[in-house]
Amino acid sequence: LAVTEHQAETATISNGLAEANHAGYTGSGFVNYDNETGAYVEFTVTAATAGPATLTFRYANGTTADRPMDIAVNGAVAAGGVAFAGTGAWSTWGTRAATVTLAAGANRVRATATTAHGGPNLDKVTV
Ligand code: GCU
Ligand code: CA
Ligand code: CA
Repeated sequence: LAVTEHQAETATISNGLAEANHAGYTGSGFVNYDNETGAYVEFTVTAATAGPATLTFRYANGTTADRPMDIAVNGAVAAGGVAFAGTGAWSTWGTRAATVTLAAGANRVRATATTAHGGPNLDKVTV
């Protein structure tokens, strides 16, 4: 089973910025979501065959408040209100997994903040 890493900082970003001012990220940085509902990062995830896949998001949340996000695949929410709890510091990174169903070929996987806190800082998603 091949594992593919998709860096957030090179994905499509809406209402967020690629930054690198907190240590411990992979790739060239992470996405700092604007602190608002609706900010998102969208990845293109290619699947050889249709079926379930586990998306593992690597993130940091230096607050004590959850930063939940909806995970949508091809425009439909596949995992709603996924919790991205505090990790203790902006330089302390954790993971959160969500299982979704992918179509064969290219899929649009979007992680959208659902509260006014925005999303966590998002490093990458591994599929
Ligand atoms: C701080 C931190 C950012 C983070 C932000 C937030 O400003 O430096 O990386 O995104 O808090 O609360 O979202
Ligand atoms: Ca932010
Ligand atoms: Ca990264």
